[in-house]
Amino acid sequence: MSKPHAVIAIDLPAGLLEDLRRSINPIVTGSDPAAVEAALPRAEGILCSALLPLPAERLDRAPNLRVISNFGVGIDNIDLAAATARGIAVCNTPGVLSGAVADLTIGLILAIARRLFENAAYARDGWPRRQPPPPLGWDPAGKLLGIVGFGRIGQAVALRARAFGMEVIYHDLVDEPVEGLEDCRPVPLDELLELSDVVSLHVNLDPSTHHLIGARELARMKPTAWLINTSRGAVVDQSALVEALRQRTIAGAALDVLDPEPPAADEPLLAMENVILLPHIGSATVETRAAMRDMAVRNLIAVLTGRVPPACINPEVLAARA
Ligand code: DGY
Repeated sequence: MSKPHAVIAIDLPAGLLEDLRRSINPIVTGSDPAAVEAALPRAEGILCSALLPLPAERLDRAPNLRVISNFGVGIDNIDLAAATARGIAVCNTPGVLSGAVADLTIGLILAIARRLFENAAYARDGWPRRQPPPPLGWDPAGKLLGIVGFGRIGQAVALRARAFGMEVIYHDLVDEPVEGLEDCRPVPLDELLELSDVVSLHVNLDPSTHHLIGARELARMKPTAWLINTSRGAVVDQSALVEALRQRTIAGAALDVLDPEPPAADEPLLAMENVILLPHIGSATVETRAAMRDMAVRNLIAVLTGRVPPACINPEVLAARA
């Protein structure tokens, strides 16, 4: 029997590609847009990252597609409704990256609190001769962290933040107490924004969360508060954020994600002093990326060989095939 055809639009280590070849025929390997596009009519599976947009029109050019296996947990690059309507299973990699994203978020909180970037610049820039002395930071202990989106990643952030003595409140659609995190209090979004010393965003990007944080929400934050975004850039209305940062109605923002990515050369956030910018590295550790690749490959193979994948966003598609 011939093996199912798949587009492998991310780089895989040789060993993993060999494993995959045992049950799948990779008709394209690599992210060259022209090669991916040309292979769509024959593709039964696509393994891709958020860098490959899959809107409905593109899915129409892939009539044999049975599975999109996304390398990552966020699937905002994929038109989920269109995929489901076409009977295409959409798989992702939840869980394996929660720790890495939470670690980065805590790293940003500590960098803000201890003014690490300013102090590193101070040390490089003639420290022995400098006056005034290095800028003082603040203790995370006793400060209030407001987590927007209390899923796997939000909860992993809460666990870590508590170890630093931070108090945690959160906002989520589900506001039942979470086992082991009963001391974290669910609150309405406005209350979270008004009370928090640090607001950290951990929601998926979908139509309901697009520009969730806009001018109105930023205006509710304390002038001393920081906004952290390690979710998706478009959860924040970026023009409104630039304005709030210019007017100093909030103290600053630490952003691992932007809208768009990479930013335009004239993006005002690139030049603002009260902004820390990172190039979308939430999951960027050797161990986490390996676990994500492994899970994405297992998802692809499972669906294309008629088995249950480790993680599927629209399992109804698989149920309908059974
Ligand atoms: C995700 O998994 O959605 C991350 O943003 C990828 O790095």
